Parts: sequence; C-alpha cells; structure tokens
Amino acid sequence: MSITFTLNGAAVAVPIEEEAPLLAALRGPLGLSGTRFGCGQEQCGACLVLVDGQPAYGCTLHVGAVAGKRVTTVEGLGTPEAPHALQAAFLEFQAGQCGFCLSGILLRAAVLLRDNPDPSEDEVRAALDPHLCRCGSQNRIIRAVLRAAAQGQPA
Ligand code: FES
Ligand code: FES
Repeated sequence: MSITFTLNGAAVAVPIEEEAPLLAALRGPLGLSGTRFGCGQEQCGACLVLVDGQPAYGCTLHVGAVAGKRVTTVEGLGTPEAPHALQAAFLEFQAGQCGFCLSGILLRAAVLLRDNPDPSEDEVRAALDPHLCRCGSQNRIIRAVLRAAAQGQPA
C-alpha cells in the first residue's frame, strides 16, 4: 500500500507499511537524508521533523500517522540559494562540527522563532534542551539562533 502526504510542499505517495517509522520512509524511498537516526527512542532529537507545523520524532512516528498531513524536513526549510535565516546564521557562526544534530535543531529553532520571534537566551536553551549535540557546539548553536532572531526575518 502507499501512504500519501505532503512533503516540503509537494504531494508524495510512498509504498511502505504504515507501521514503518516516518524516518525510514524519508531516508529510504523518499531519498531525503537530511533527517538523521540517532537513538531511535525520542531521546536525542536527530530525527525531528515537523508534522502540520509541530515537532515530531521521525524515529518513532509511524508513517501511517502522517497520511494526509504536511511534513517538513530540513530540506524544506531553505535552499543554498535562499537559506532560511537560521541556516544563514548557523553558517555565519559555524554552529556545528559534524552536523549530525543540526537538522533537528534547525527545525526546532524554526518553530521557536515562529511562535516567539524574540526569545531570550534562556528560552532558546529551553527549546533546544531535547536535542543532543555530541560535538559540544551548543554555545555556537544558541548564539546562531539568537542572531537569526535579532535579524527579525520570518522563521
Ligand atoms: S533518533 Fe529520534 S530522537 Fe533520537
Ligand atoms: S555538530 Fe556534531 S553532534 Fe552536533
């Protein structure tokens, strides 16, 4: 059977069991490798995507649960030609080393700035608390989120 949903603004139909993790559909038949598998237990945030604009863990969410919904991955956040304000700020601050954690963090930060365009540093820290960065880049990541907020561009 196929599961149909909207992925980064385009309709897709994925031939996959509805109990399969959304992450498996994204990285497998849909060919989007930006979303990462870390813990598989909703503990690291590497797999975070947005479903109808809300954060969701792709490692545990069944793909059948997103049928008819809007899924956004990091590939839908911006492009090299037209990066999201967060992506531009992360590049400016070199806010990451290996980059494994960044797709989930960028999407979580995008939700934060959408809902709270002028967050305090404590609010940024709290929003990103569910995300692990094993490279220890947290301080640069937080500065980059605050820079994107200060620039006042839409998240
Ligand atoms: S892989 Fe989903 S939260 Fe870690
Ligand atoms: S940049 Fe490597 S895990 Fe965060």
